[in-house]
Amino acid sequence: MSITQKTREEIASMRIAGRLAGEVLDYIEPFVRPGVATAELDRLCHDYMVGVQGCLPAPLNYAPPGYPPYPKSICTSVNHQVCHGVPNERPLKKGDIVNLDITTIKDGWHGDTSRMFVVGGAAAASILANRLIRVTHECLWLGIAAVRPGASLGDIGAAIQRHAERHGFSVVREFCGHGIGRKFHEEPQVLHYGKRGDGLQLVPGMTFTIEPMINAGKAAVSELPDGWTIVTKDRSLSAQWEHTVAVTEAGVEVLTLSAGAPPNPSQS
Ligand code: MF3
Ligand code: CO
Ligand code: CO
Repeated sequence: MSITQKTREEIASMRIAGRLAGEVLDYIEPFVRPGVATAELDRLCHDYMVGVQGCLPAPLNYAPPGYPPYPKSICTSVNHQVCHGVPNERPLKKGDIVNLDITTIKDGWHGDTSRMFVVGGAAAASILANRLIRVTHECLWLGIAAVRPGASLGDIGAAIQRHAERHGFSVVREFCGHGIGRKFHEEPQVLHYGKRGDGLQLVPGMTFTIEPMINAGKAAVSELPDGWTIVTKDRSLSAQWEHTVAVTEAGVEVLTLSAGAPPNPSQS
């Protein structure tokens, strides 16, 4: 398999799938409160996607090689969970930090985006947790800012790694961004660390995600027995933000923006 370049029309379709994924996050935000179970957030998102938006939740029954079918419609990664947290009936507590990761399929095209939320509002979490969330969001946008024709994948990874490590945080190595389109995960792999100039050169029409996972402690992770949930080995907090982007002639277009998406922090 190789990297697919999307036409203008195909990117227009991905823009719709991407906006819908962002709008699921806009919709669910007010429900992320103390006492709500992540399984309830999953049900709400599922019903919104299927019943209101007329799209499909890509995670449901997703089973890449070596994985059991994913049992839910969204991923909910709480505190020291890094990614792929499986929604359950445990209530969220004031001060928890949670990543909600939404992937839609609309007319056969995927849109993939995630955000961090503080349960009970920013003041409920520690200064460290808020700083981790902010720096990880900055990492996402520094990665996006490195995207343009002629740049390399290594430019993205280097920008993210430099910012995370400058703040004393670490970059998870085992999971990365990915090409996306008619398939949920396709080539290339988009590492969140690396060296400027290394790796594949970007050309217009490429579509991929950038989704840095940044740990407050060490970079090492482990997998829980459910076969999906990834946690930090040292149980330190972890944060993640994700957008789907397209390489354009002019530079980059973020395909998963919606009215409620937090803006690029360097332009606010
Ligand atoms: N949305 C995740 C990503 O960003 C993938 C989740 S796979 C699932 O790539 F099956 F857990 F949903
Ligand atoms: Co992704
Ligand atoms: Co995702």
